Amino acid sequence: MSIIVSMKITPTSEEIKLKENDFITSKTDLKGKITYCNESFIYFSGYEEADLIGQPHNIIRHPDMPRAVYRMMWENLQKQQEFFGIIKNLSKNGAYYWTFANVSSSFDEKGKPIGYYSVRRHASPQIINLLTPIYKEMVAEEGKHNNSNQAMDTSIQILNDLISDQQQSYSEFIYTHA
Ligand SMILES: Cc1cc2nc3c(=O)[nH]c(=O)nc-3n(C[C@H](O)[C@H](O)[C@H](O)COP(=O)(O)O)c2cc1C
Repeated sequence: MSIIVSMKITPTSEEIKLKENDFITSKTDLKGKITYCNESFIYFSGYEEADLIGQPHNIIRHPDMPRAVYRMMWENLQKQQEFFGIIKNLSKNGAYYWTFANVSSSFDEKGKPIGYYSVRRHASPQIINLLTPIYKEMVAEEGKHNNSNQAMDTSIQILNDLISDQQQSYSEFIYTHA
């Protein structure tokens, strides 16, 4: 398994599109290690199930995704709030697939968080076209800073400039516009 984590995948320009009725689901432990994934997850990621279980969820992280989006996701989860995001993921063969993702916490019977789960469906071309240049700008901005907090602040500001209702978070914006 450690071989897969350290494997460097070169992204290609091949896109795999989700159909309207595709639902990609996964569950993780509290550290973000995959404990469950469905058939669609296996299909789009291109890995075998045995290669995915126990791996960190960033196994499908695409380098075009701004780190700030994941920062916001984890901040929401820590506050026990669900998160909505438009996520570009990386397949094992280098292809990419866009998803409209919902991530939330699982709780035990006492209300204690025991892990996370996520459901992804297709993302509309409109929201992908809107966010592609913004994500590009954010990734470039993040690359300019050695200081991680400063990088996150300036990167998130680029996203906030897009959101006309300044009371809305990115997650709320995606929920209402995707
Ligand atoms: C339930 C759940 C689902 C996630 N889904 C994805 C995903 O589809 N793609 C992704 O790149 N990261 C996903 N993540 C976030 C990763 O754990 C990780 O934070 C992210 O890939 C950034 O990786 P990095 O911190 O190594 O830069 C998910 C996390 C959780 C808890």
